[in-house]
Amino acid sequence: MKIFIPGGAGCLGTSIIDKYLPLGNEILVLDNFATGKKQNLPQIKGLTVIEGSVANTELVSKLVKEFQPKLVIHSAAAYKDPSNWKEDTETNVIGSINIAKACLENGVEKLINFQTALNYGRPDKTPIPITATSKPFTSYGISKTAGEQFLLNSGLNVISLRLANICGPRLAIGPIPTFYTRLKDGKNCFCSDSLRDFLDMEDFLDVLDIAMNKEIPTGAYNVSTGVGSSIKEVFDCVVEHLNMIAPEVPIVPVGADDVKEVVLDPSHTEKTFNWKAKYNFKQTIKKQLEWYDAYGVTDIFSHLAAPKS
Ligand SMILES: NC(=O)c1ccc[n+]([C@@H]2O[C@H](COP(=O)([O-])OP(=O)(O)OC[C@H]3O[C@@H](n4cnc5c(N)ncnc54)[C@H](O)[C@@H]3O)[C@@H](O)[C@H]2O)c1
Repeated sequence: MKIFIPGGAGCLGTSIIDKYLPLGNEILVLDNFATGKKQNLPQIKGLTVIEGSVANTELVSKLVKEFQPKLVIHSAAAYKDPSNWKEDTETNVIGSINIAKACLENGVEKLINFQTALNYGRPDKTPIPITATSKPFTSYGISKTAGEQFLLNSGLNVISLRLANICGPRLAIGPIPTFYTRLKDGKNCFCSDSLRDFLDMEDFLDVLDIAMNKEIPTGAYNVSTGVGSSIKEVFDCVVEHLNMIAPEVPIVPVGADDVKEVVLDPSHTEKTFNWKAKYNFKQTIKKQLEWYDAYGVTDIFSHLAAPKS
């Protein structure tokens, strides 16, 4: 099958390519390498990588017209500078519009989108049901919400997966790589007083596989274990993994641009997809840390504006 993956050089994109390229699919990637890395994409038969932006209307239109993909997996997102509203809007809104228009013009059968839980803003309750109101308040959340709405209302067959924190190869965002790197370097850490849900990459790829291959109605779906864990629990797992004597670690209130509890309720997805996460929190974090032991941590990004240390 021909698959177009905008943002394919990123964390999720490269794991998707690792799985689907060896199965004989032909994959086209468009990436500007803002957070993804060219060297993560092998120069092998079946994979074409174009450097450029999803915000470039003519380029997206030309690529989709020439490649004629059956499936588009939209994995491009801007988030690394929370004050750069223009960049977030160009990539997350205009980019999504460009992809939707090109798909409509070329009869693309299915478009799978990835959405951040920040689209729910500060939720009224957790776990957050799929019916909860979208009320984003950060540049990333606002622009991703607008992009998702354009896609869901485009008339295309769109499945938008609203994701927990996916853990797996090349993860370079969030508390796990931060604690791992800082503790190894003998640096101080702090834990924000917050709760997150963590999902293993294999579980994510299982959901994606169902989205790709089964008849799933157009709509948005929460993808999560449904179980929240505190940032302090993540810290404790890293300390244990590194065989350290637990250092003192301050627990600080969440920053003004952060959300205290983000735990998605996956029950609607579990029923519709006939899927359930296989890995629990401890297994997921352990797999992630073993990956860092083997391959290391590269750059660490955050979409939060609050000072990191
Ligand atoms: N990984 C997660 O836990 C998670 C959670 C929620 C949502 N998401 C969503 O999943 C998608 C993939 O995220 P990821 O974790 O792989 O992040 P990532 O930063 O590793 O990947 C995003 C990719 O998009 C590329 N990109 C940025 N701006 C671009 C542009 N203008 N044109 C083309 N490419 C551009 C980046 O270079 C990068 O390769 C994003 O839409 C993100 O919002 C991910």
